[in-house]
Amino acid sequence: MSPHVLILGGTGEARELAAALLAHGGVRVTTSLAGRVARPGAITGEVRIGGFGGSDGLTDWLREQHVDALVDATHPFAETITANAARATAATGVPAVVLRRPGWQPGPGDRWHSVASLAEAADLLPRLGRRIFLTTGRMGLAAFAHVTDRHFVVRSVEPPQPPMPPHTEVLLARGPFTVADESTLFHDHRIEVLVTKDSGGRATSAKLTAARDLRLPVVIVRRPPLPDGVTTAPDVSGVLSWLGLAPQ
Ligand SMILES: NC(=O)c1ccc[n+]([C@@H]2O[C@H](COP(=O)([O-])OP(=O)(O)OC[C@H]3O[C@@H](n4cnc5c(N)ncnc54)[C@H](OP(=O)(O)O)[C@@H]3O)[C@@H](O)[C@H]2O)c1
Repeated sequence: MSPHVLILGGTGEARELAAALLAHGGVRVTTSLAGRVARPGAITGEVRIGGFGGSDGLTDWLREQHVDALVDATHPFAETITANAARATAATGVPAVVLRRPGWQPGPGDRWHSVASLAEAADLLPRLGRRIFLTTGRMGLAAFAHVTDRHFVVRSVEPPQPPMPPHTEVLLARGPFTVADESTLFHDHRIEVLVTKDSGGRATSAKLTAARDLRLPVVIVRRPPLPDGVTTAPDVSGVLSWLGLAPQ
């Protein structure tokens, strides 16, 4: 029987990894999604949707589905599922790796303010500007709901739900975006400050280049730490090597 690889997904890398593993052949691949997005893009291989029911539920699932390896390819800010996966793989002995793309680094000309949380980002805003482009994800809007005297422009794939700041303009869009797209948005919406999480990767980094070109301040939320002792790989080919498969 082919070894069964479970990919915890929700990122572009998870999608790429599923395709790479199936192109390689000889493995059964299941990608797991939380189910936050109503119409996720196409994914190669088997897909399951919805939570497992905490680390115990995931532990049961790994056993019942005879999972031979787990790749946590979730977003760097999906802290709970990453902690649950670390616990479940420790409990079952299933080998696991976290695919964690490198964080962004400031370059010359950047005006970055690094903060530890969305709450800290909200505290900093009054000093930085009045019109704010918030790209921290629709789930994070509640942290800014008490900021009533600033104008927020929020971009997300699905419409956000309250609580959110009273002066919020929503732009529904799915990346990737080019530097030209982002510069146009900054210009059209007279953006003075960008707030983002340190997601890393190229799919959403154009906004940082556009902000640098316009000399705009950027509030960047640092990543939560990984659980102790986890193995990491920076990209899809690193995961393929960890699995003992040569990239094709
Ligand atoms: N956080 C972000 O900024 C962000 C950005 C882009 C994409 N995403 C993706 O969106 C998903 C949810 O992110 P989040 O920050 O809400 O996660 P989270 O806070 O770490 O997880 C909350 C709960 O959602 C369920 N869950 C999360 N990811 C799952 C997955 N891949 N498969 C099955 N269940 C999952 C788990 O439920 P149970 O406890 O019931 O198992 C988990 O306890 C993740 O898959 C992540 O890759 C997140």
